[in-house]
Amino acid sequence: MDAAEWDEHYSTTELVWGAPPNETVVEQVFGLERRLPVGGLGVGELRPELPRALDLGCGEGRNTLWLATHGWQVDAVDFSQTGIDKGRTVASRLSRSVRGRIRWVHANVTRLDAADITGPYELVLMAFLHLAAADRRALLLHAVEMLSPGGTLLVIGNDTLNLAEGYGGEQDPARTFTPADLLADLAPAEAELRVRIADRVHRPTEDRDAIDALLVATKPVPEPPAEEPALGGVPQPPALDIG
Ligand SMILES: C[S@@+](CC[C@H](N)C(=O)[O-])C[C@H]1O[C@@H](n2cnc3c(N)ncnc32)[C@H](O)[C@@H]1O
Repeated sequence: MDAAEWDEHYSTTELVWGAPPNETVVEQVFGLERRLPVGGLGVGELRPELPRALDLGCGEGRNTLWLATHGWQVDAVDFSQTGIDKGRTVASRLSRSVRGRIRWVHANVTRLDAADITGPYELVLMAFLHLAAADRRALLLHAVEMLSPGGTLLVIGNDTLNLAEGYGGEQDPARTFTPADLLADLAPAEAELRVRIADRVHRPTEDRDAIDALLVATKPVPEPPAEEPALGGVPQPPALDIG
């Protein structure tokens, strides 16, 4: 669907995806302990006060709102203005500090630089954003570039198997994906990423379980440079005088 079709989809008063965040997102993000970067900051780069998250294709912001409520500073991006407006309306009922932690950005995720979305982020979330395969691959590799050292990439979406064995969700097989597809997308960034989970997860619905593909990966923190030996080298024991 294009942006206008998503606007239309969101034009009801109810929240299309409901208010609660996705359960797997909550489970995985709680495990992160809101880690701030412990190293690898660039020269002159200040340590952020709060961990920073990017929610790609945030929709009506259910995951963004949960993240902001739990102390994350969130850039929430979507190309549907109607979706963003609904998220903003829900946020307007929350405390000013929570609202202040969200930047709603009306933009296409395939052109993030033009929207001044450059990172770094401690978390990049891509939840149920079903792009054409080439766009998905480019976005995932760009997401890795935007991660701070120690940052996490969390991808969840309708697994291709969901079409035959699951329930609801994206119906275009060219836009669904499997854990193996995500691993293949990220293969060029293999050296910059530690994959912690690449698996299928079942999500209860009012009918059969829906089947999602999940990937959780972390950008390693670079090793601190080895300490230079003191001037004159490492002190040596005195030579033995065996005379
Ligand atoms: C299935 S909804 C998921 C919304 C949200 N992530 C969630 O889990 O509730 C997919 C969202 O992706 C957005 N989207 C799709 N393609 C996009 C693109 N190229 N740029 C920005 N947003 C996009 C749609 O507008 C829609 O809000």
